Amino acid sequence: MTPTKQSQRVAALTDRETQTLISAAGAAPSVFNTQPWAFRVKDASIDVFADTSRELRAIDPDGRQLAISCGAALLNLRVAAARLGRTSVVRLLPSDAKPTLLANVTLGEYDAAIHPDAPLYPTIRRRHTHRRPFQARLVPGATLAELVGCAVSEHASLTVLGTDERRWLFELVSFSEVVLAEQPGYEETMSEWTAGSVTRRDGIPASSFGTLPFTGQPPMRDFSQAHPGWEAKLQCYPKDPAIAILSTTDDNPVSWLHAGQALQRVLLVACARGLAASFLNQPLDVPEIRRDMKHPGWHGIPQMIIRLGYARGDVSTPRRLVTDLMR
Ligand SMILES: Cc1cc2nc3c(=O)[nH]c(=O)nc-3n(C[C@H](O)[C@H](O)[C@H](O)COP(=O)(O)O)c2cc1C
Repeated sequence: MTPTKQSQRVAALTDRETQTLISAAGAAPSVFNTQPWAFRVKDASIDVFADTSRELRAIDPDGRQLAISCGAALLNLRVAAARLGRTSVVRLLPSDAKPTLLANVTLGEYDAAIHPDAPLYPTIRRRHTHRRPFQARLVPGATLAELVGCAVSEHASLTVLGTDERRWLFELVSFSEVVLAEQPGYEETMSEWTAGSVTRRDGIPASSFGTLPFTGQPPMRDFSQAHPGWEAKLQCYPKDPAIAILSTTDDNPVSWLHAGQALQRVLLVACARGLAASFLNQPLDVPEIRRDMKHPGWHGIPQMIIRLGYARGDVSTPRRLVTDLMR
C-alpha cells in the first residue's frame, strides 16, 4: 500500500485532539521561555516549525537552543499522542532547502494498548524549572540510572558528575557568567526576555527568577541583573543532589532535536519520580567556552547542564495561546 492511500484511511485530527496536542507541545521548556515553535495541522499530520523571529541571536546564533526547545515540544507531542491512544511516527526534517521545517509527526490509528508514554502526560503540566535550593536528600541510584536510560533512548547521553567534575564545572559556570556579562547583546536579551509585563505570554517573569545561593554555589544565573533596582534574594543552598550534563555525539540540527527530546524525556520522568530541575547553561551560551569544554572524566558535546533534586513548591511560567502557535 502506498503511504498516500494509507494516510487517507487514518482518522484526521479532531479540533479537540489538535487542542490537546498543540497545548501539550506549547507547555515544553524553552530557552528564556521564548516558545520558538509553530505548528501546521493537516488531516492526521503535524508539521513542527522553528519560529526564527523568536531566536536569541546574541546567545544562540546557530539556533541550537531554539532547536532543543522545539525538540522538547516534539517529545510532548509524542506523549500527548500516546495519551490520546494514537500511534505516531516522527520524522526529523531539518534541511538547507527548508531550514524552519524541523519535523513532522503523523498520527496513526487508535490503538487500544496503552502506550508506555501515556502515563507521562500529566507531568507535562506539573513540570516547572526550579531555580531554588533542593532538599538535602539524595536521589536514588536507580532513579539516576533510569534518567540516564531516558537520554540514551532518545539518542543522547546523560552523565551525572562526580565531585571533581562538579568542582570543574562550577568554576567554568562562574567564569562564563563574567564573560557573558561582557558579551554583546546578552544584557539586551536578558532585559527583553525577563520580567516583562504581567500580561505577557512568554519570557521569564520575575516570579520565576528564583534565588541565589549565599556561597555562590551552585552558580545560579542571576536573571535580575538586567533590571536595575531589582535585587535577587539570597538563600542557603544545601549541596545539589545531582548535576548532570546532557550531551550528543554530533552537533547539528538533527542532534539538537534529539537533545531536546532527550531533555524532555529526562525532565518528565524526573517529575514523575518527584524530582525537579533547573539549568546551569551559562558556559553553553558562550560558543568558545562550549567548544572547549573538556574534563578528563567527561566527554561528548554538551547540550544542557542540569541540576536535579527534590523541590518544595513550584512556580509556573506563562504560555502562548494555541491559536497563536498555528500556521
Ligand atoms: C535550551 C534551553 C536552555 C535553557 N537554559 C536555561 C538556563 O541557562 N538557566 C535557566 O535557569 N533556565 C534555562 N532554561 C529553562 C527555561 O528558562 C524555562 O524552560 C522557561 O523559562 C519556561 O519555564 P518552565 O521550564 O518552568 O516551564 C532553558 C531551557 C531550554 C529548553
